Amino acid sequence: MVWDKDTKTVVLTGAGVSAESGIPTFRGEAGLWKNYRPEELANPQAFARDPKTVWEWYDWRRGIIAKAVPNAGHQAVAAVEKHFSDFTLITQNVDGLHQAAGSERLLELHGNIWKTRCTSCGAIEEEYSVPLKDFEPRCSCGGLLRPHIVWFGESLSPQVMEESFACAAACRLMLVVGTSGIVQPAASLPLTAKEAGAVLIEVNADETPLTPLMDESLRGSAGEVLPELLRRHKVSI
Ligand code: APR
Repeated sequence: MVWDKDTKTVVLTGAGVSAESGIPTFRGEAGLWKNYRPEELANPQAFARDPKTVWEWYDWRRGIIAKAVPNAGHQAVAAVEKHFSDFTLITQNVDGLHQAAGSERLLELHGNIWKTRCTSCGAIEEEYSVPLKDFEPRCSCGGLLRPHIVWFGESLSPQVMEESFACAAACRLMLVVGTSGIVQPAASLPLTAKEAGAVLIEVNADETPLTPLMDESLRGSAGEVLPELLRRHKVSI
């Protein structure tokens, strides 16, 4: 049975799983890309042109995330991890709320908003101050620090990519939660799992381009639908 504890399981999440924690998603009615232009903020050229504005925007997002707490959707994902002996969470989210909910075996495809990376020496540090003391923070080597986030036009960490696709190709069950299924390479992970014969279940407020791939597509908010799905399959939360 696919919900047996020894089933190799992957959960792929996107911004929708953090929406109920008060963190804006990127697309859709109240999405960030409705009010901010990613080409002005979330790409290396914008940062090279105006690092201060880019840091101010991330400082604003960090301020929102600092006030957010994990919701029932995050808790349910952490419960799925406890249920299955062979589990990997692959998240596109950078907010750290999965970790705050107790998820441990996770891959962050797009980085983490609480980490900085030096543009000179490459050092990656954790940085939790809200608000930031300086909108052009410097590394101890003197280099300019940037958010440790994968921006548009940048490639993901090869290790994280390789591990994510290996997990997708080997899993027997994949839950796809709160992602619009538009941004690559994350959006190819469900197809990889499908082609390898996995059962795919989507949880999303709306239909997505991934919906046709799904064995089951459950409409609604992750904080309500995921716990219900786990109850149905006797996964304790
Ligand atoms: N529960 C479940 N799904 C939800 C909820 C909710 N409460 N609220 C919104 N959704 C769904 C929306 O219907 C949408 O399909 O979550 C999805 C959010 O989509 P996006 O905002 O596009 O977020 P995501 O898929 O994570 O974006 C991928 O794009 O901008 C880049 O790097 C950024 O990681 C991000 C990537």
